[in-house]
This record gives sequence, C-alpha cells and structure tokens, in this order.
Amino acid sequence: MNEKINQYLSGLQKPSIEWLLKIEEEANRDKVPIMERSGIDFLKQILRIQQPKHILEIGTAIGYSALQMIDAVPNTTVVTVERDHDRIQRAKFHFEQYDRLKKIELIAGDALECVEEISEKGPYDAIFIDAAKGQYKRFFDCFSPLLTDHGIVITDNILFHGSVVDSSQVPKRLQKLAGKINQYNHWLSNHSDFQTIFVPIGDGIAISTKVKEGSINE
Ligand SMILES: C[S@@+](CC[C@H](N)C(=O)[O-])C[C@H]1O[C@@H](n2cnc3c(N)ncnc32)[C@H](O)[C@@H]1O
Repeated sequence: MNEKINQYLSGLQKPSIEWLLKIEEEANRDKVPIMERSGIDFLKQILRIQQPKHILEIGTAIGYSALQMIDAVPNTTVVTVERDHDRIQRAKFHFEQYDRLKKIELIAGDALECVEEISEKGPYDAIFIDAAKGQYKRFFDCFSPLLTDHGIVITDNILFHGSVVDSSQVPKRLQKLAGKINQYNHWLSNHSDFQTIFVPIGDGIAISTKVKEGSINE
C-alpha cells in the first residue's frame, strides 16, 4: 500500500494499553516474533464481530496474541500451542501475571504431535494459525476439521513481508519459505470447502469460512 496511506492509518491507531505494551517491548527486546499491531487490531475486531466461545491458536510465543484475543472477547476461552521451552515459560508467566490462567490453556509441544489432545479440547469457533510458516497447509488440514459450523480460520503472515510477490526482497534462506507460503495461499484460495479473503493488513491475514450447503460456489 502507498506509504502515505500506511502512515495515515497508523496515525488513527490507538496506542497499546500499558500491560500489552510491556509484552510488545519484551518481544522487541528479545526478538520474539509477535503479530504486528495493525494485524492484531484487525484480528481483534473480527473476533468482536464473530464472538467465538472457544479459540485454538497454533503458535503462542510469549502469549501476546492469546492475551489480546481474550481482551477482545472476554467471555471466550483459548487453547494455545507452543513448542519452544523458553517461550512456554514466559507465556505461562504472563498468563498468571495478568490473571488469565482460567481463560487460556497452554499445550506445550509440537502442534502436529498433539493433534489428539487438541482435538479432545475442541471443537473451536476460531482457529488462528501463526506458527512454522512451512507447515501452514498441514496445520490447516489437521485442525480445520475441528471447526464448528460457523467457525473461521485466520492465518497470519500470508504476505511474508511482501516476499510472496517478490522473493528477492528476503535473504536466500527465507526464499524457500516464501515459496511455501505462496503455495499455501493458492491452495487455500482454491479450497473447495472454504471461502477465503486475503487481507493486506499487518503481514497479511487470510480469513477462511466454510462453504455453506446451498451456496453457489462457482
Ligand atoms: C510468530 S510466533 C507466534 C506469535 C504469537 N501468535 C503472537 O502474535 O503473540 C510463532 C511461534 O510458533 C511456534 N511454533 C512453530 N511451529 C510450531 C509447531 N509446529 N507447534 C507449536 N508451536 C510452533 C514458534 O516456536 C513460535 O514461538
């Protein structure tokens, strides 16, 4: 998007509330990847509209987005999965510090190895995919069957800093990943059971809903 429009839109963004700002600062300081502000604001607004009762998040990091989701929909519960030991400890600390242990359940482990445990805790009204970028298709295939009828799948980083369009923008080691995300986007766009909109907010967000019986899906 035009840089001036980006600046204008950022100027309309409210500053983060203090306790979330602290986690944003921690993530910046320690180079923990968390959702961009515009992306998280968009995700929160989608959840406020949808009012999910139960959310699955793949990729907790230090708990920033899980806490943000509860902030948007205080009556929801979140199951979130993380495999990195240090981040698990930090996320648990934040959930406890902000008194959200009853609302957020953290599963420690690789999401693709915890499918049974994740399934038992479902179904889910919203699934947020924000973990290993090369595994997006597998995450979608494994967890989308756990969606309720009106459920949605939200995928972050579908633009991967613009590299899905021009991979020369990123270092060589990330170019393969950019190719995988590009493949995922096309696969998702052609999925016969889901309708998806790809939104250029934050690092790019895809929102997928189930195709309803009786709708004309050409
Ligand atoms: C981009 S960060 C998540 C950011 C977080 N959603 C936020 O915005 O606050 C991705 C996280 O997913 C974790 N991860 C990657 N692949 C995973 C997997 N297969 N199972 C569980 N966690 C995974 C990484 O360790 C990393 O902490």
